[in-house]
Amino acid sequence: MPLSEKILIVDDERFIRMALGEALRSWGYETFEAENVAEAKKAFDDLEPAIALLDIDLPDGSGLDVLSDIKEKRPNTIAVMITANVDVPNVITALRSGAHDFIGKPVKMEELRVTLRNALETKELRREVKQARIERSRGFSFSEIIGESAALKKSIDLAQRVAVSDIPTILLHGETGTGKDLFAKAIHYASERANAPYLAINCAALPATLIESELFGYEKGAFTDAKQRKEGLFEQAQGGTIFLDEIGEMELALQAKLLRVLEEGVFRRVGGLRDIPLHATIVAASNKDLKKASEEGGFRLDLYFRLSVIQIDIPPLRERGDDVLLLAQHYIERANQKRRGVKLRGLSPEVARMFRGYRWAGNVRELRNVIERASILEDGEMVTTAHLPADLTVGGLKTTDGNSVAFALPPDGIPLETVEVELAKQAMVRTGGNLTKAAKLLDISRDQLRYKLKKSGDYESTAAEESA
Ligand SMILES: Nc1ncnc2c1ncn2[C@@H]1O[C@H](COP(=O)(O)OP(=O)(O)OP(=O)(O)O)[C@@H](O)[C@H]1O
Ligand SMILES: [Mg+2]
Repeated sequence: MPLSEKILIVDDERFIRMALGEALRSWGYETFEAENVAEAKKAFDDLEPAIALLDIDLPDGSGLDVLSDIKEKRPNTIAVMITANVDVPNVITALRSGAHDFIGKPVKMEELRVTLRNALETKELRREVKQARIERSRGFSFSEIIGESAALKKSIDLAQRVAVSDIPTILLHGETGTGKDLFAKAIHYASERANAPYLAINCAALPATLIESELFGYEKGAFTDAKQRKEGLFEQAQGGTIFLDEIGEMELALQAKLLRVLEEGVFRRVGGLRDIPLHATIVAASNKDLKKASEEGGFRLDLYFRLSVIQIDIPPLRERGDDVLLLAQHYIERANQKRRGVKLRGLSPEVARMFRGYRWAGNVRELRNVIERASILEDGEMVTTAHLPADLTVGGLKTTDGNSVAFALPPDGIPLETVEVELAKQAMVRTGGNLTKAAKLLDISRDQLRYKLKKSGDYESTAAEESA
């Protein structure tokens, strides 16, 4: 029992207050007294006790008034009613207003002691459950999804609306690393199902028979290894969410079984004869275009239609404009927590430009990895091109005729001259300021390169050490 919890004793009879106070103090509580409604309300405001013992018949009103006042101000307060005339309407009113328990007069001390101990335990448990819930959902809410672009906002907006609806199936579609997992969890934790289980299964990672028994469960003896009956995810997730990741990889035979579950709202354990109703929301995810896959025969068209009633398309990172910079900054700050020495401040302008134009085939995951790597290798305060993977600086993109290029045209275009100057400068940096070598890299003459650099006003600084 937590010691020295504050208890407010509200009773008009001095003798009762004294007797209760003495007992309570001997059990380790800190006690305070009030003898009428007015005093009780004031004492409650001043002292904020964890527990209130409330007599109902008070000289200036009813203990039930004190109760509703208390519950309104601090709902977690434990209120125990103590009264000589336990009549039913009072009991109902008190319990409705949130009283924890009723104790008749004369008070049996042992009863009071147990009541208080249970009440405090319940309170502590509630607090723990609440805390656990907060911890579990931390990192899974929509507010953790970074991005301001219209494209992303559109997906978030739809997902938020779907989360609070009772739509039974949702399809998330997006390239690898776009945040399908993140969205699925955010939807679950924003829904009424947040306190029920969120269970995920990857349809690409396991053989079909295993996925089937994982999802549907099985009866004892359904197959050789079925020594015990086993509940599947459909059963375990009752009231919650099942995340079917990479649904596009599910075998056709199993797709048919899944379709039946979605259409009829019931399922059977493998080897079972009884239909069990499904009360879980199915969130399926795919990086494939399922419509195309079903036209080509790799996915059931009817299942696609069933799943895609609500389809949320998560845009690739390259279509999210400056979100790439926001995300980069987010991962920089995260990397800083682990980084020794100087903290990273941000991206060099050159890197920022590259990031905006890069293809990001691995989307946010790729970006995260790039920043993590740079934060380890980089000595300075900025992420520079020096520690970016070659993929990003060269050959990250294919030109229209299939060759590798370092640049992609940014969404809102870029002056060609800026590109030239940028590459000229990079060539100078890479060759340590050697004009001849730099010109060679660019397949132009020294004079041409010198001219370009001069025009940009950067010749003195970048070519200062040139000796050739
Ligand atoms: N908008 C975002 N804001 C913050 N973090 C993000 C965002 N999008 C993705 N992430 C992070 O990027 C990583 C990849 O995201 P996630 O695993 O959800 O992608 P996915 O679409 O499920 O990929 P895959 O198809 O490969 O399974 C995760 O660490 C995720 O937290
Ligand atoms: Mg995923």
